[in-house]
Amino acid sequence: MFFPNLILNSLALTSAVLASPIELAERQTTPQKLRIMPLGDSITEITCWRALVWDQFAAANLASSVQYVGSQNSNPQNCRPTTANWDQHHEGHSGWLAVDIANNYLEGWLKKTPADIVMFMLGTNDVTRGKSTAEVMDAYTKMVGIMRGANPRTKIIIDQMIPLSYSNAAVQAINAQIPAWAAKLNTTESPIVVADCYTGFKTSDLRDGVHPNANGDKIIASRVGPLLLNYVRQSLGK
Ligand SMILES: *[C@@H]1O[C@H](CO)[C@@H](O)[C@H](O)[C@H]1NC(C)=O
Repeated sequence: MFFPNLILNSLALTSAVLASPIELAERQTTPQKLRIMPLGDSITEITCWRALVWDQFAAANLASSVQYVGSQNSNPQNCRPTTANWDQHHEGHSGWLAVDIANNYLEGWLKKTPADIVMFMLGTNDVTRGKSTAEVMDAYTKMVGIMRGANPRTKIIIDQMIPLSYSNAAVQAINAQIPAWAAKLNTTESPIVVADCYTGFKTSDLRDGVHPNANGDKIIASRVGPLLLNYVRQSLGK
C-alpha cells in the first residue's frame, strides 16, 4: 500500500506542477456554458430566427456564456447574421410531428445533448396530418415530463405557433390552449414561459404558406429572444 500511494501522490503533484498558473485560473473561473436546445420542426431547422437570436446574445455580451445544443449542426438557409461564428446546433427536424417526438425521440436526444433551457415550437405538422388539439396538448405535456426527467431544473419556452396560410383554425385552437396549459405545469424549479409567435404574424410573413420569410424570422426572434435572454440572465445571476 505504501508504494502505490506514493506514486499516486507524486503523479498528482506532477500534474499540478505542469499546469500553468493561467490554466489553473481558467479551470477555476470558466463556468460551463448554458446549454440551450432549439427544438422543433422545419420552422426551427430551415429558418434563420435561431441566428437572429444569437445576434441578441452577442449584443447583450452573453454569446460566450451560451451554446445551442442538439443532434443537428446545420445552416440550411445559409443564414448570415451579424455574428459570423454563431452556434448552429439545433434539434429541428423538418416534417416531424410533436406526437412522434414526444413518444419516440426526445428522451434520447436529451440524453445525447442535455440542456439547461429548451425552447420549442411544434404542432404544425400534427395539424396538417389531422392530429387533434388534445393529441398535441398531450404531446406537449409528455415532452415537459421528459425534459424534467432529464433535468429537473430545465427552463422551458413554448412558442405559440406561427399561422398556416391554409386551415389555420387548428393552429389557433392549439395556440389558445397553450397559456393555461403552461400556467398549470409551471413550477419554480422548472419554469415555463410562452412566446407569442402568432399575434401580428401575417401570412405575408410566410415565404411559402408555412415557413417564415426574412420578416417572419425577425418576428419569431423578437418574441423568443427576450424570454431566452431573461432565462440566461437568471441562470447566470446577472
Ligand atoms: C411561470 O412562473 C414564472 C415565475 O416563476 C412566471 O414568470 C411565468 O410567467 C409563469 N408562466 C406562466 C405560463 O404562467
